[in-house]
Amino acid sequence: MRSLCLNGYCKPSEYEVLEILTPQIISPNQVLIKVHAASLNPGEIAIASGSFRAFMSTPFPIRLGYDVSGTVIATGAAVTGFSAGDEVFSCLPWEYRGSSISEYVLAPDSSLAYKPKNLTHIEAAALPLVSITAVHTLQRVKGGVAGKTALITSGLGGVGSVTCQLAKNVYGAANIITTVSTSKVPKVEQTLGKGVVDQVIDYQKTDILKAISHRSIHFVIDTTGTGFQLPLLSKSNSTFVTISGLPSGKNAKESIPGVSLFVVLLLDALHLISRLQAWLYGVKYESVLDKANGTLLTRIASWAEEEKLRPVVGTVIPFETQALRDACTMIASNKGGFGKVVVKIL
Ligand SMILES: NC(=O)c1ccc[n+]([C@@H]2O[C@H](COP(=O)([O-])OP(=O)(O)OC[C@H]3O[C@@H](n4cnc5c(N)ncnc54)[C@H](OP(=O)(O)O)[C@@H]3O)[C@@H](O)[C@H]2O)c1
Repeated sequence: MRSLCLNGYCKPSEYEVLEILTPQIISPNQVLIKVHAASLNPGEIAIASGSFRAFMSTPFPIRLGYDVSGTVIATGAAVTGFSAGDEVFSCLPWEYRGSSISEYVLAPDSSLAYKPKNLTHIEAAALPLVSITAVHTLQRVKGGVAGKTALITSGLGGVGSVTCQLAKNVYGAANIITTVSTSKVPKVEQTLGKGVVDQVIDYQKTDILKAISHRSIHFVIDTTGTGFQLPLLSKSNSTFVTISGLPSGKNAKESIPGVSLFVVLLLDALHLISRLQAWLYGVKYESVLDKANGTLLTRIASWAEEEKLRPVVGTVIPFETQALRDACTMIASNKGGFGKVVVKIL
């Protein structure tokens, strides 16, 4: 089968789609999926470039792809919830990553959910990792989200676009403020739906620290890693949740199998520094590291079917080396993206 497969750490401009063996079920809880669509995430591109090699070992060849939507081809002997022909989607757990930018992929049944009936495979593939991450960030908000004023950065990025929708439509936030680049300002309402975002700040023209009254925000969800001054805006006793900083050692231990004790302790020490900085403003600092979860994905599918959550598919690319190189170079630059880049595999 064809798969995006790298023989060593490299830049996106060196990526290749290669011919490799089709995976076979080897454990009773596994499901073999024919991939229809898969989406790209910045984290996997950073791992493939070697950015995290000090923290985690990556077996070679490196393969990319955490998110998948497709059809079940075969199931292991212990799988009861899914059978051949079912349309499913998944965020693969760490030990199965990445491999969804491929014609076939194996996943444990615990990471799967039925694809939302109202979505195409392209749309469904845009949801898993960013939605799971969004839910985990919102669950970290001290005292809950309902009725509160939130700053959620990058409202048209992969995670930001989903977090804004879930915060308003599912968790009941009262006011959402977001940041986007100049050309995206007019696109926020048409993309996320009327009333989801209450205030859009053009971060390229406006200093966010001047645009928002200090001490007015109940919680911040930082998706850009640029938020170290944002606690200034937060009310005391509020929460600052980041997905872009380093995870805590506890997060890493829960999500990454085999992470070393040294790395766990180092991450906890670094995390403590960020927590202390936020504490000086009276703000609780939290970080999130995504973790595959089929049960949560089933809830996410129902929110999509109830139209509380729209996937934001910015670009659909063919399953070809040059298209993947170009898309991943853009994602790695952290500029210019719109929602998710989805690879059409079938
Ligand atoms: N911890 C976790 O579990 C987890 C999970 C998912 C993602 N992440 C990380 O979270 C980050 C975001 O992920 P993503 O999937 O949302 O990325 P993405 O879809 O590539 O979105 C990034 C977008 O952020 C915008 N941006 C850049 N600088 C900005 C700024 N200063 N203010 C506001 N927006 C800015 C850019 O849009 P413009 O060009 O329009 O500015 C860019 O397109 C990445 O670092 C990723 O690795 C972590």
